[in-house]
Amino acid sequence: MNVLLINSSPQQQNASTYCVAKTLLEQWSQDNEVLLQEINVTTIPHVDSAYATALGSIHGEHDESVGSLALSNQLITSLDFADVVIITSPMHNYSVPSGLKNWIDHVVRVGKTFNVSSTGKHGLLRDKPVYILISSGGAFSSQEAYQPDFFTPYMKEVLATIGLNNVVFFSVEGTVGHSNEIHQKIEAVQTEIRTYLRTI
Ligand SMILES: Cc1cc2nc3c(=O)[nH]c(=O)nc-3n(C[C@H](O)[C@H](O)[C@H](O)COP(=O)(O)O)c2cc1C
Repeated sequence: MNVLLINSSPQQQNASTYCVAKTLLEQWSQDNEVLLQEINVTTIPHVDSAYATALGSIHGEHDESVGSLALSNQLITSLDFADVVIITSPMHNYSVPSGLKNWIDHVVRVGKTFNVSSTGKHGLLRDKPVYILISSGGAFSSQEAYQPDFFTPYMKEVLATIGLNNVVFFSVEGTVGHSNEIHQKIEAVQTEIRTYLRTI
């Protein structure tokens, strides 16, 4: 089982969502040999001029080894190779953090991961489960939510563009507080995940 973990938290392996990701990995490891590739997307370069030119070119003739096209190809290969994807991410300003947006800009690529026709955009990737683990300082999905959520609808839409329609979200919300309260919230989501995995 090839697992790709896209880590978009500035806290990396200390992130609350990373604890939750470990639960997924532990559960899968019980029945599978898990091969994990982990990518820290908080430090990858932005798409550059070579990339923008290539995406704007109608003839598709460009040197794939130049600038961020090479990185884009690597990231797409990793995504394509994976049987399952985990994305660990904080909510930043009601939406995805810039590192995750950066990764999206590299992998959502016309002619590579989606095509465009008169009927719209059509995904080219083999569909696979994508687990998105979100952490937020406040609530965004429950009845107590006091802020908008541009994260989950955006991720659903953008992943569907490249053919990934099997997207599941789990969230640790309200992380501003005492560490024991946060720990309890993480444990609750870990339990939710174990229960979910038994039902699929
Ligand atoms: C730049 C920035 C923007 C943030 N924006 C939001 C926000 O819009 N809503 C929210 O609930 N929390 C927001 N937070 C808080 C984080 O989502 C929260 O601390 C989260 O638990 C961090 O997760 P992690 O460190 O485990 O990855 C923001 C934090 C930062 C640093």
